[in-house]
Amino acid sequence: MESRRWRRWSVLAMASLAGVVNGDNCASPSGFTIESQAAADALNNCSTINGNVNIQGNDLIQITLNGIETISGNLATSSCAGLRTITAPVLSQISNNFTLSSLPLLASLGFPLLDNINGGIYWDTVPDLTDVWFGNLTTLSHGLPGANVDGDISIINTGLSSLAFLNFTHYSNPATIWIKGNQQLSSVNLTGLSWGSNSLAIVSNGPSAQIFLPDLRSAGAITIGNAGHIYIPSLSETTATIEISTNAIDAFSAPSLTNIGGSLIVQNNDLLDNLSIPLLTSVKGDITIANNTLLQTINHLDQLWFCQGNITLSGDFSTVTLPSLRNIIGHFHLNSSNPDFDCTTFDKLSAQSDWSSSSYSCGAYLPGSTKDLAKHYQAPDHDFNLSKPVKAIIIILSVILGLFVSALLMRLYVHKTRVRRGSLARSASWTVPGARVEEGDVEIEEVGVTRVAERGDPLPKYERVGKPGEVPPGYTPTENAGANQVEAGNVNTETLNNASRRRWRLCYGR
Ligand SMILES: *[C@@H]1O[C@H](CO)[C@@H](O)[C@H](O)[C@H]1NC(C)=O
Ligand SMILES: *[C@@H]1O[C@H](CO)[C@@H](O)[C@H](O)[C@H]1NC(C)=O
Ligand SMILES: *[C@@H]1O[C@H](CO)[C@@H](O)[C@H](O)[C@H]1NC(C)=O
Ligand SMILES: *[C@@H]1O[C@H](CO)[C@@H](O)[C@H](O)[C@H]1NC(C)=O
Ligand SMILES: *[C@@H]1O[C@H](CO)[C@@H](O)[C@H](O)[C@H]1NC(C)=O
Ligand SMILES: *[C@@H]1O[C@H](CO)[C@@H](O)[C@H](O)[C@H]1NC(C)=O
Ligand SMILES: *[C@@H]1O[C@H](CO)[C@@H](O)[C@H](O)[C@H]1NC(C)=O
Ligand SMILES: *[C@@H]1O[C@H](CO)[C@@H](O)[C@H](O)[C@H]1NC(C)=O
Ligand SMILES: *[C@@H]1O[C@H](CO)[C@@H](O)[C@H](O)[C@H]1NC(C)=O
Repeated sequence: MESRRWRRWSVLAMASLAGVVNGDNCASPSGFTIESQAAADALNNCSTINGNVNIQGNDLIQITLNGIETISGNLATSSCAGLRTITAPVLSQISNNFTLSSLPLLASLGFPLLDNINGGIYWDTVPDLTDVWFGNLTTLSHGLPGANVDGDISIINTGLSSLAFLNFTHYSNPATIWIKGNQQLSSVNLTGLSWGSNSLAIVSNGPSAQIFLPDLRSAGAITIGNAGHIYIPSLSETTATIEISTNAIDAFSAPSLTNIGGSLIVQNNDLLDNLSIPLLTSVKGDITIANNTLLQTINHLDQLWFCQGNITLSGDFSTVTLPSLRNIIGHFHLNSSNPDFDCTTFDKLSAQSDWSSSSYSCGAYLPGSTKDLAKHYQAPDHDFNLSKPVKAIIIILSVILGLFVSALLMRLYVHKTRVRRGSLARSASWTVPGARVEEGDVEIEEVGVTRVAERGDPLPKYERVGKPGEVPPGYTPTENAGANQVEAGNVNTETLNNASRRRWRLCYGR
């Protein structure tokens, strides 16, 4: 008994200098550092390790953790220049993080019974890592069932060609899933992942990687780049931004997505020609759909009603329809490079009383040009649905005309009164000096008879207030006022103020 304990003590001292043996439980508050296979073998009788296990040493080529079934702590390896293989034939659980970093030659992880990693996996810069066997002997009938990971999954710059070693059956609440820069990864299949990640980023993996997220229902931010196919049939909402940029996808479809808690960004997707989010109603951030070379039609965003940020649609569009769009807190800017683009529908929509946006613009611009070639809505003459500035001008002109007519009548009245007084004073011999008096026009024979016509009357000159064409004080033309409010973003203030002011329909402050 005494000698056996001593043996364990000495062996554990070799392994960590601070090991404590407790039956098959080996505990060390400061953890176990493995710098050789001998140090690893010293733990062979420890079915449970209480503490972190750290594999370290530039001389290591292969490490086998025999006999360890549970690591109650982290398993970490870093800076092992020569390490190629880690195997743990009976390890079934790592209760905290599994970290691999900067391991230039590590190629293989053989953990055939590993079922659960209760922390996260953080693997970064393990470029040769190709073979990962997790839990492959636990259920042979399933081929490669893999390990369930409860925490974050961060797999960056590895040589992996498959993530089949991950098992999402019992997946719970990861903060982060980052799958980035894995050049051999041509398929990212996260079947079983249903909810909870506040940051899901799958970018810069194998060219045209196929992304399968068949069960994902809700998530935080989603960023997908450099993919060849994206399958997210169940996604119904995100609490943050969804960005689909720089992919080789020809279609993007999110058939169940109704709400986006951040922005919707779809840009630089060279091959994208079909964008379909038919149930999307509300976006809490911006909507940016830009620089998707082949995307000529947007007609599967039929429910979109609300956008809290700016809407920027830019591309070679022939048709854009957003029939439900009404409520934009930010700006709306549609820019097509197709000279035949027709803005009529949007012009009308934006003029409706139930539409609101900080500003509205729609146009067709050839690259590098500021000349708007789009067709625009022209109100027909008989149509009294006039735009605000036109209505204002009509009202002002009517007022001026009214004043003018009143002034005219007033002068006429004053003049007539004078004429009558003169007639009374001078009896019937009165004539208007310098007047071309015509018979029948003026009756001067009888005292007190009123003139019935003024034809040829030398009325006093009408005195104008202000210069010709001058607008009454207090009136500012809406277009100028509006153009000055446009700032930054894709709306070019200079362009608006000068050459193309008339070409853009700008509706402010509605
Ligand atoms: C492990 O336990 C076995 C049997 O109890 C014993 O023979 C062996 O020496 C132990 N190994 C170590 C490294 O303690
Ligand atoms: C696991 O890793 C995460 C992220 O680096 C860290 O926040 C957490 O404290 C780690 N857990 C343990 C037990 O070291
Ligand atoms: C399970 O993984 C080990 C490597 O740890 C491998 O040698 C073995 O062939 C695998 N078995 C199956 C059935 O995939
Ligand atoms: C996934 O892990 C659970 C237990 O963690 C297991 O029951 C299941 O068989 C594993 N494999 C698959 C494919 O679900
Ligand atoms: C994704 O993995 C699941 C098992 O986890 C499998 O049933 C399914 O066929 C895979 N899908 C694709 C497209 O590879
Ligand atoms: C447009 O997208 C292509 C890739 O699709 C990219 O190379 C280019 O830089 C993008 N242009 C702009 C202005 O972002
Ligand atoms: C675009 O995608 C939607 C949804 O996947 C599909 O219903 C529609 O037929 C596609 N349109 C074209 C022109 O391929
Ligand atoms: C329209 O988009 C093109 C790029 O496609 C850009 O060069 C141009 O400046 C944009 N014009 C406006 C008015 O937004
Ligand atoms: C919308 O665009 C305007 C001007 O381009 C900018 O000042 C503002 O910050 C943008 N709003 C959002 C939510 O991006």
